[in-house]
Amino acid sequence: MEDYKIQLAAVLAKITGISAVEAEELIEVPSNRDMGDFAFPCFRFAKILKKSPNVIASELTEKIVKPQFIERVENVNAYINFYVDKTVVVQAVLDKVLAEKDGYGFAAKKDKGNIVIDYSSPNIAKPFHIGHLRSTVIGNSLYRIFEALGYNCIGINHLGDWGTQFGKLIVAYEKYSTKEDVEQKGIQELLRIYVKFHDEAKSDPSLEDLARENFTKMEQGDANALALWRWFKEISLKEFERVYKMLDISFDSLNGEAFYNDKMDRVIKELDDKKLTKISEGAKIIELDNMSPCLITKKDGSSLYATRDITAALYRKETYDFKKCIYVTALAQNLHFSQFFKVIEKMGYAWSVDLVHVPFGMVSMETGSLSTRSGNVLLLEEILAEAVKKTKEIIEEKNPNLENKEEVAQDVGIGAIIFDDMYNTIIKDIQFSWEKVLNFDGETGPYVQYTYARANSVLRKSGMAISDIENICVDLIIDEQSVALVKQIGAFNSMITEAAEKYEPSVIARYAVNLAKCFNKFYHDNSILVDDMKLKKARLALVVSTMYTIKNALWLLGIKAPKQM
Ligand code: ARG
Repeated sequence: MEDYKIQLAAVLAKITGISAVEAEELIEVPSNRDMGDFAFPCFRFAKILKKSPNVIASELTEKIVKPQFIERVENVNAYINFYVDKTVVVQAVLDKVLAEKDGYGFAAKKDKGNIVIDYSSPNIAKPFHIGHLRSTVIGNSLYRIFEALGYNCIGINHLGDWGTQFGKLIVAYEKYSTKEDVEQKGIQELLRIYVKFHDEAKSDPSLEDLARENFTKMEQGDANALALWRWFKEISLKEFERVYKMLDISFDSLNGEAFYNDKMDRVIKELDDKKLTKISEGAKIIELDNMSPCLITKKDGSSLYATRDITAALYRKETYDFKKCIYVTALAQNLHFSQFFKVIEKMGYAWSVDLVHVPFGMVSMETGSLSTRSGNVLLLEEILAEAVKKTKEIIEEKNPNLENKEEVAQDVGIGAIIFDDMYNTIIKDIQFSWEKVLNFDGETGPYVQYTYARANSVLRKSGMAISDIENICVDLIIDEQSVALVKQIGAFNSMITEAAEKYEPSVIARYAVNLAKCFNKFYHDNSILVDDMKLKKARLALVVSTMYTIKNALWLLGIKAPKQM
């Protein structure tokens, strides 16, 4: 369909006088296909031509020389709507999908430049909570979406592995724990002593001083303090690894906050040299318009979250020369990102506009809100494991003879959680509910996966191999549901572009549900395994094209597509 858009742009360029590239940018793909396959809005000509957009649209419509692939041109208000010839669409879409298969929707080369995506980024010695899960799955999906468009992505897990909390942890460990306990109980124990530290510090403020001293020691390279810190980090990473493995997610870099420890001095000096800093009550700050100041160093000289983020941004620009650097975190961190993006701008770096914060809403459980403070380290792992267990029960009930039940339950259970995190616009808060997440008939991951499995089962029953499905008589595909399905399949590329432009994996999640619905309508209306070989092949071509498209859309979300379930 993209090719037709380009051809159409050329036609429109001729009659409007704008360039073909500009025309192509203006052409829209209406989400409601009753409005045509392409639409051209005429608002922008009103000023130059001194006429109303509606009049311009109607005059232009008269002038159009209809290319062959266009069946109908219609003027509605300020728009010119184009309806592509059905057979042409069906042919183009099926040819493309059947040729590209697993590659359908994905750019052949990654030559559009680098995009850095900073996501997941949990804090060492603290639980990996459900907010980090959201960051992880959204970041992973954006990674795949941008790669599909031809960018080279660099996924960075900006671990929270530096900061005053490690000073606290060292004190807490020395006072309240033992080597054996930490080794045996892992993060659980680290969290217990961290919480205890806070309780004790309420009545004994000298603990806080001790903690600060220990963090300063770390910043100054004290071997003992650093050995403990390294140990805490290893323990945490091992536990995080388990969750990443369940989600099948990996990173290109684990350079977290600590990585910037020896790189901050240079940056602070640059800030001083550029006369941006100011001392306020012993701390070094940068004043900003309409925002509270950005803290660069504390009274005792130690660095802050923002200091490390400013340094990281400079390092990443130097190392990766990114086109964009995207940060996926909870909305609560909005101010932090606005502040440090502003600092980069004030430093005179034009690329500050390429720093993008992608914020998301909170997740709450049916029984009240989920927070780190509730202290359940294993919460996330438990949720994932529970999803798998519940899915297995559903499989036992619906399809007890299924092979690889275990594997399918993993793919479906975990896929369900991932899907739920991205089905709505990500800024929205989510109310987590098992019933909603695992509903095979709702707008859910399992519903999409189930549709994929159904399509696979039709193909299996046909006794034909994918390679047999060729030389299709496209003029047999004329009924409304079939054409609607093909158009939906053909819209995949424009959906990927939209998802990237909006930083919204939900565009893909919704698309996948709509595609599944289209397939199910088609399946309901048409017998596929008919005696007429030509017709059977034509309909199977739709089945197979749907399979590839669903599978690839789920992949963009980080969800697996089992062939049977
Ligand atoms: N560790 C932080 C947290 O858990 C998130 C870090 C996000 N990335 C960044 N570059 N600040 O809240």
